[in-house]
This record gives sequence, C-alpha cells and structure tokens, in this order.
Amino acid sequence: MKTDMITFDEKNQVFNLSNNYISYIFSVEEGKILAHLYFGKKIRNYHGNLQYPRISRSFSANLPGSEDKTFSRDTLPKEYSSAGEGDFRTPAAVVKNENGAYASFLTYKTYQKVNGRPKMKGLPASFVNNEEDAQTLIVTLEDKVSKLEFDLSYTIFRKYPIIVRSVKVRNMGTDTVFLNKVSSMQLDFVGKKFESITLPGAHMNECNIERNPLHHGLAVCSSNRGVSSPQMNPFVALVDKDTNEFSGEAYGFSLVYSGNHKIELEKDQINQVRLNMGINDYNFSWKLVPEESLQTPEAIMVYSKNGLNGISQSFHHFIDENIIRSKFKNIERPILINNWEATYFDFNEEKLLPLVKKAKDLGMEMFVLDDGWFGHRNNSRSSLGDWTVNREKFPQGLIHFAKLVHEQGMKFGLWFEPEMISHDSELYKKHPDYLMHVPGRMPSPSRHQYVLDLGRKEVRDEVVGQIDKILSSGQIDYVKWDMNRHLTDIYQADLPIDKQGEVYHRYVLGLYDLLARITSKYDNILFESCSSGGGRFDLGMAYYMPQTWTSDNTDAVARMKIQYGTSLIYPTNMIGAHVSVSPNEQTGRLVPLDTRYLVAMSGVLGYELDLTKLTSLESEKIKSQISNYKKLRKLIQFGDFYRLKSPFDTNQAAWNFVSKDQKEALVFSFNILSQAQPVFTKTKMYGLNPNFDYEDQNGGEIFGGDELMDMGFYDEIAKQDFVGKMRYFKAI
Ligand code: DGJ
Repeated sequence: MKTDMITFDEKNQVFNLSNNYISYIFSVEEGKILAHLYFGKKIRNYHGNLQYPRISRSFSANLPGSEDKTFSRDTLPKEYSSAGEGDFRTPAAVVKNENGAYASFLTYKTYQKVNGRPKMKGLPASFVNNEEDAQTLIVTLEDKVSKLEFDLSYTIFRKYPIIVRSVKVRNMGTDTVFLNKVSSMQLDFVGKKFESITLPGAHMNECNIERNPLHHGLAVCSSNRGVSSPQMNPFVALVDKDTNEFSGEAYGFSLVYSGNHKIELEKDQINQVRLNMGINDYNFSWKLVPEESLQTPEAIMVYSKNGLNGISQSFHHFIDENIIRSKFKNIERPILINNWEATYFDFNEEKLLPLVKKAKDLGMEMFVLDDGWFGHRNNSRSSLGDWTVNREKFPQGLIHFAKLVHEQGMKFGLWFEPEMISHDSELYKKHPDYLMHVPGRMPSPSRHQYVLDLGRKEVRDEVVGQIDKILSSGQIDYVKWDMNRHLTDIYQADLPIDKQGEVYHRYVLGLYDLLARITSKYDNILFESCSSGGGRFDLGMAYYMPQTWTSDNTDAVARMKIQYGTSLIYPTNMIGAHVSVSPNEQTGRLVPLDTRYLVAMSGVLGYELDLTKLTSLESEKIKSQISNYKKLRKLIQFGDFYRLKSPFDTNQAAWNFVSKDQKEALVFSFNILSQAQPVFTKTKMYGLNPNFDYEDQNGGEIFGGDELMDMGFYDEIAKQDFVGKMRYFKAI
C-alpha cells in the first residue's frame, strides 16, 4: 500500500494534499468556512503557521450573529465562495433561490476520501489506469437554507505536481433553484505579486503568449462563442515577475472543456489574488430541481518551481498519460498528405490519384481527403449534413477510392464537419428544425452554414447514423473532425422556457455524447480535432482526439509563434503541422523549403500542397525530409520538449527535444530576419544530462551535456531571412 497523499488533521481541522512535489492545504475556520492556506512546493509537515491574521477590515461583513469584527469574510482566502455571503470579491458561484434572492452561504459539512479519480458522467476528465496513482478528496459544503450541497472534488496524482478540481452541486431541498454561475475552482493567493500569462489569438493566429501584471480589479479571459475558441484558449498561468522559461515559480491552469469558459483574476484591496475558472456564466442559468445535480468540468492546476518549461513538462506528460484516451497516443503518427491547400474544392478521383501516387513515392503514409467529397459540395455554400459521397467526383463511390489509396500502401483519412448544416442540403429539407435557431428569428449564417441543435438526442442520432455508415466500411483510418463557425441563435427546441439558459452547456454535452459514441466504437481510427485550425484546441477535445490541426495558417514563420504558444500546455504529439507551398497561401511569404520542414517536423508532420507541381529538386528534398523524420519521429513525438528562445520576444526561435533516457536530443534554432551588422547569439540546450558526452550526428564533434546547456553554441549567420538549423546529438 502506498502512502496516503490526503490527510485530515481532526484537531486543527486541516486538510493536506501532498505528494513528492506539491502541497495543497486548507482548513475549516470559524463559522465552518473553508479557508485556503497554501498551494505550492511540497511542505514536509504543516504546523499551523498560516492561520489567517485577524484584523477589523472596514466595510467587510462578519459572521452572522457574531460581534467579532475581526472575522473579515471579504478578505479571508477561501476554497469556494458564493454570491451574497459578504465576500465582495467575484464569487465562484451565484445561486438564485426560488424566492428570487441571490443568496447562499456555503459552510463545511463533511468529507470523504476515495482512491483513484472517480469518473465524471458525460464530461471528459482526467483518469488513472491504476487506482493507486491518485487519490480524491470530496469536501461537501452546504447552504443550510436552500439545502444545496456543493461537493468540491480534489484529486492529487502521485507522479505529478498536479491537482485537478471540479464541483458538483446537488439540490437536497424542496425548492427549485437556478445556478447562474458555478466555477470549477477558486484559488485565493496572499502575498503574491503575480503576472498572468494567457493565450489569446484569432483564426490563423492562435495561442499568442501574452504576459501582463495583475492590476487591481477584475481581469477576465473568456469565450462566449459556444466553443473554447482561438480568441482565448482556456488556459492561464500565474507567475512571479522574474519567472522565465527555466526558473521561478509558475502556476498553470487549464479547463477540460470545449465550450464557453471564463477565467477571472481579481486583485483585491489588499493585493490578494483570486482566480476562478469554469463554465462562462454568460447567458448561463441552470435550473436545479430537488434531487437533481449539476457537475462542472474539471480544472487542472499545475505548480512548477522551474519556470514555464516546468509547467509545460507536467502538462505534456499528464495530458499524454491521463487525459488522452485514444490508443494512438502511444503510436507514431503517420506522415500525411492533405489535399485542402492542394486543390480546395476543385477535385475528383482522377485528379487526386496522381497526388496519392506522388505522396506514396515520396514516402508519405496517409492520404487525407478534406472538405468537398460529399453531397454536391463544390464550395462552402452547400451540403453540410449530407454525409454521402459526391458521385460526380467519385463515380465509383468513396469506398472504391479509399481502396485505391489502400492499394498504394497508404492509409486513408476523411474530413467531416458533423456539427453543421447547410440550408442547401437534404438534411435541411427533411429536418429544417434541426438547425439551431430562435423561433420567430432568422438565424445568422457564418461561412454560409448553421449549427445543429446538438442538445437534442434525435439530432445526434441522425449525425451518428450517417457517419456510422461510412466509418463502418472499415476503409477509414483517420478522421479530421472540423468545426468552422461559432454559436449564435442560442435556443434548444425541446427545452422549456426556464431552461433556455442551459443551451450552451447542453450543446457541449451533446457534442461530448457524439464524440464518445463515435470514438469509442471506432477506436481503431485516428481522430484529429480541428476548428478552422486550433479554434478548439482544448483538453475536452484531447480526451477524445489525440491530435489537433493547430492553425489554418501554414506559414512557417507565423507557425513558429503559434506552435511555441501552443506548446505551453499541449504536447507536441498533439500539434498537427504541415509543410505547404511558398509563397504561402495565407501570408504570401516566401520561406525556404528547409525552414518550412523544420517548423512542421517539430509537431506531427504532414504535407499540404500540390505535390504534382514540385520540381525534381523539391521532390528529392521532400523525399529526404520524410525519411529523416521517420528516423526522428519517436524522439519528437514522445520525447521531452523544451522551449529555449521565444519568437515573441526576439528575432529568433529555438527549442529542443530530449529522449526520456537523455541519450538523444534534437535542437532547432531559427533566425527570422537577417541583419547587415549581425549581433552574435547563442543557443543553449536544456534537459540534457550534464555528465553525458554527446556526438553531433552531422560532423561527429563531441560536446559535454554541460557544454551544450551552459555554454551553448553560436547561431549561424546567414544573409537570408527565415533560416533554420537542426542539430541531432546522441550520447556516446
Ligand atoms: C478549416 C480547416 O482548418 C481546413 O484545414 C480545411 O479543412 C477547411 N476547414 C475545409 O473547409
């Protein structure tokens, strides 16, 4: 039996969750309020020195019925707060009672401890393969008047500096209440001068790294687009001013959710910081009748004393082992050719076959047929919802074409956009009501398309039925699951008036039901998530799909930033990256083929250009790129990834991969714009064994691990923009 990671000190009423890396400590205070004490580096033994000081705080509410002015409910760090209880900071939960009052006062009731990580019905969440790897503490808070119970769940994992949290609200009373906000977690910090790091962006410009000092008042990072969105990834890090990639304290937070999310950061009147994270309360109101419950998504909290690479390392390993379900997470991913940028909608079987053959000759392993193969879709105006082959493009059917691809010795992948419907479609003719819309209002198109009312089971059944017909052919090895618009016209046709505030979340629950049904039945198929690129790059999707198409921007220079930002949380084996044509289709930039390859090979490599138009020199190069990647693929997809130089801060970018046994390493360095009077720069590697000697596989020079990490090497100078270099080292 392994040691207990969760203890409760009955005498002092202190809960302590500790493993070899972290401690998370909180206590039951006067008035049965659950007070937060500490989250950070492991503490060997907590002796009570963080008892929150008592002082009379002006304008603060005190405990009901008490004369004691020093118990300030407005400043006490808490585990979870609710509106109307005399804490004027932004609350984690807002409850509307049957009498219309926004009131609740959450006090400690009981706790239980369970081994492992209990399953969450209907929602993706972390899991363990072995019960001994994690322990879960469930602390129940109650509101004595409404008889609502809030189960705060905390799971600590033996191997990681990670705690995951979520909340389940149960109505144990006789009144109906409305939950207008239920965050998955709250965390209050005292005495920290934090800066926040978030990942805002846009379509074709995802995951920018933005760092800001916290100011007094409330900062909000959120999405109200129905999806996690490229505009704001559901992630935040809180770091000290001096924290960098390699050193300093850093806390990372991510929500395992693919819909509207909200992160609130509030610096209060005495510089304390509150973080709330969960489903966005925008247009959210959940009716909770007696005996019913609502489960929030899971929030992941990571601590590092080794800077941002530290939190990334923990996220990467944890996601690979405890979030992604697909067995493909441990399998080297096929190098694919995708026809989107090669042909867009303009293709047929005859035109595609030479592309397939050329891809095969170059060593590629999978052909992915993108948008435009179904219904009568020749542009973005039609056919979403009709997942039957376009006979004009494939006279002998889709399966026949898939077999031709297989005969070439290549795998076959297929694009779907299952959550959508076009006006011009058979599905719309048959079921116009499946299109999500508000009665009496014209719904808004976006990319000429509309969203299906996925909260409804019959709508999901229709989608599953259609997709099932194709996947059951046994000829599909890979699916790209796309989603190219955000949600408007929020209304679920089969819900009563007082439940329309549930529609956003019910859409996501419907999506998860779809994903669970399809991905569990077809667990031999590799799924890649996409939402016009990385518009839904989140851990909810990662649970079902081990890969994500990172961005519709395939320009290698733009991708340096996008992939660098994405890697803050997501492992490189999730990051789909393709070599495309130059000048680039999105930016018009001319980038050397070598550099395009170096950037794309730093993720899950693919190609997305018309291979039949390559010059013989380009063909030769790509052939050797592919054979090279096959040799290095394991190291890239399953090694440890460290960021070295940020393209957000400098004219350069650099990162390296190190195998788990530290015997192999690959370092990439890029110079973005050339300079007439160049400044000499060095790249220092990270994560090697300082005591090993490494041989440069190109040239045979030997370097100590300490030399490569502490002295580094000079970057090459070139009279050219956008140059990159890769060096491969093996321990001798
Ligand atoms: C958006 C995706 O990101 C692209 O790769 C492509 O699949 C298009 N959709 C097709 O419509």
